Amino acid sequence: MAGGDLREQLVKYLTDAHSIEEQALPQLRAAPKIAGDERLAETFREHEAETEEQRRLVRERLDALGGSPAKLKDAVMKAGGAGFALFAASQPDTPGKLTAHAYSFEHLELASYELLLRVAERAGDAETAEVARRIRHQEQAMSERLASLFDAAAAASLAEKDADDLEEEVVKYLTDAHAIEGQSIQLLGLGPRMTSDPATAKVYREHLEESRAQQTVLEARLEAHGEGPSKLKDAALRMGALNWGAFFQAQPDTPGKLAAFVYAVEHLEIGGYEMLKRVAERAGDAETAGAVERIVAQERAAAHVVASEFDRAVDASLAAQGVAAAG
Ligand SMILES: [Fe+2]
Ligand SMILES: [Fe+2]
Ligand SMILES: [Fe+2]
Repeated sequence: MAGGDLREQLVKYLTDAHSIEEQALPQLRAAPKIAGDERLAETFREHEAETEEQRRLVRERLDALGGSPAKLKDAVMKAGGAGFALFAASQPDTPGKLTAHAYSFEHLELASYELLLRVAERAGDAETAEVARRIRHQEQAMSERLASLFDAAAAASLAEKDADDLEEEVVKYLTDAHAIEGQSIQLLGLGPRMTSDPATAKVYREHLEESRAQQTVLEARLEAHGEGPSKLKDAALRMGALNWGAFFQAQPDTPGKLAAFVYAVEHLEIGGYEMLKRVAERAGDAETAGAVERIVAQERAAAHVVASEFDRAVDASLAAQGVAAAG
């Protein structure tokens, strides 16, 4: 047989999924202590149990396909190096940040199972495809539960804040959003280099332009709060300290991983803006709330378009490995 082996690729995607579940567990165990809201805490506890099951299901498929434990360990370290571990290692310190981070992580998982599902289908492995579908559904449901708790998370973050604190919070979330957009622009900038598909490259290029415009809107809102560029530098540094920086520096190594990372980052932005919108409303800053609402709509549309590229991203990743995408 010419080229690479589809089954070998399937083991790789399963190994990545296993690694992501491993990374999810300590986050989910820590989350209830930071949640500041009982429903939110309970949501994390329930998903921890689900995640244990997911890890077992993925492990079973790996065993069935003959992925050896030693190989698994190597691959887990490699996947960690590719950013999943770094992403998981960032320590959100408020209910709002925790929820935005978790929302993003669930979408990283969701994207990983979208990719796994496609590789399993192309490999003709119905059992693995079924596992991927089942877990994808759980990650989707968890994402939706988190979105339904954005209000609760914002309220928990803002408990005990007075008017001055609220003003400070708006500025903080604005500068953080500006920094995340900056990192996202770098990630999107990898797009044209990493994908041979012109349609996919166009998606990244267009959202990169949109992200620059969003940054300009954020700068105007910061200026309205009397804040200049020095504040933006602080935020970039703070982001490094939070480990987002490390996540973004980890370079995705395939078109599929790039799509999964971009998808996760778009949802990090969405989660952050959803919090910012609520903080701005509480602070009586209707202009920021309105601007953020328009940006969130763009982020959701961009995430949707990125998701529609998963098929092409999988084909491009398999082709780059010399694997024909016939299943
Ligand atoms: Fe999971
Ligand atoms: Fe999950
Ligand atoms: Fe974006």
